[in-house]
Amino acid sequence: MIRINENYLKLTSSYLFVEIARRVADFQKQNPGKEIIRLGIGDVTRPLPKACVEAFARGVAEMGEAEGFRGYGPEQGYAFLREQIAEADYKSRGVDIDADEIFISDGSKCDTGNIQELFAGDISVAVPDPVYPVYVDTNVMAGRSAAFADGRYGGFVYLEGNRNNGFVPSPPSGRADLIYLCFPNNPTGAVATKAQLKEWVDYARAHRALILFDAAYEAFITDKSVPRSIYEIEGAKDAAIEFRSFSKTAGFTGTRCAFTVIPKTCEAFDKEGNGHSLHGLWNRRHSTKFNGVSYPVQRAAEAVYVGDGPSQVREIIDYYMANAGLILEKMTKLGYNCTGGVNAPYIWIECGSDSWTFFDMLLNRAGVVCTPGAGFGRRGEGFIRISAFNSRENVEKALRKIEESI
Ligand code: MLT
Repeated sequence: MIRINENYLKLTSSYLFVEIARRVADFQKQNPGKEIIRLGIGDVTRPLPKACVEAFARGVAEMGEAEGFRGYGPEQGYAFLREQIAEADYKSRGVDIDADEIFISDGSKCDTGNIQELFAGDISVAVPDPVYPVYVDTNVMAGRSAAFADGRYGGFVYLEGNRNNGFVPSPPSGRADLIYLCFPNNPTGAVATKAQLKEWVDYARAHRALILFDAAYEAFITDKSVPRSIYEIEGAKDAAIEFRSFSKTAGFTGTRCAFTVIPKTCEAFDKEGNGHSLHGLWNRRHSTKFNGVSYPVQRAAEAVYVGDGPSQVREIIDYYMANAGLILEKMTKLGYNCTGGVNAPYIWIECGSDSWTFFDMLLNRAGVVCTPGAGFGRRGEGFIRISAFNSRENVEKALRKIEESI
């Protein structure tokens, strides 16, 4: 008899953004012709930067020529991209990360989901609440939780985020072995200071724990004092893995390219307490289960760093951040408490009611899709998230419609 992994039965309904898409599709069916503006899932709308498109096309053309054709590439990514990343994202900012500590992949969602495979089943997992649901769901699938009850899975250490701590939780007093942090934060848009991240790095080192630091929104940081990488914190190279993505930075959500940084000094431990290199284990996993990102896509990603690429990328980010500014300004003016929108493309809004009810109200009255905070955890109840990823015209129209409907 073929048996299932019963941990999947513990999962609550569907993945958050699938559930939202289902509700929006239902609404559209019942209201054909009604305009819907999507400020829910953080999916980019601006076209790829021209430099990336040109590099992409050159890569495709090379693949069509006998001299340029390539078969399987290195699973870890081509050196040309890894070296650019090491230089532009790390060394030029005073952070010592080598090209071979960078693993190119097809997405940070996949990497943050897959990485937990390296760890024992009985470790204690700490997740913020509210939280990007992938960290939670993938650990439920792996059997690290008990049943779901009252808005939470048993067995996880939930790190409470609220207005008092600015949605930047402090380390717990008890044990946490694997710690998920995301800054700039999805969903709240909050950022952590160096001092706050240092507390986490110190905790992780003292407890031989590991931080999984999701920095997918790093490019949206405008405040120069805010750290862009966990490795800006002394000691982090021994205790943290960092995830970054071209998805939001350069419009690659449909093109797929990201990377994970695993410093060679970063270790996890066996039962006897002997340290093992996570770099080596991930390399083993990656080369066994992954065949690399396609050559033209890696050439397109490389273009983010060279020639006109950086300024074109900056222009796209500035465009979305101007949207974020408009959303933040309007929602604040309408009397809502808001977080984010300054160093992040998400605005987290205390909506004053049940968040799915507010979601339905906005959809029905304004035709605007947001993300209900409750989908990010128990502490997300009473909030919604509005994403800045859409055209200026649609954001302005959505804000007018919101104002008219509340
Ligand atoms: C979001 O809306 O939270 C993001 O699009 C999720 C993701 O990047 O997977």
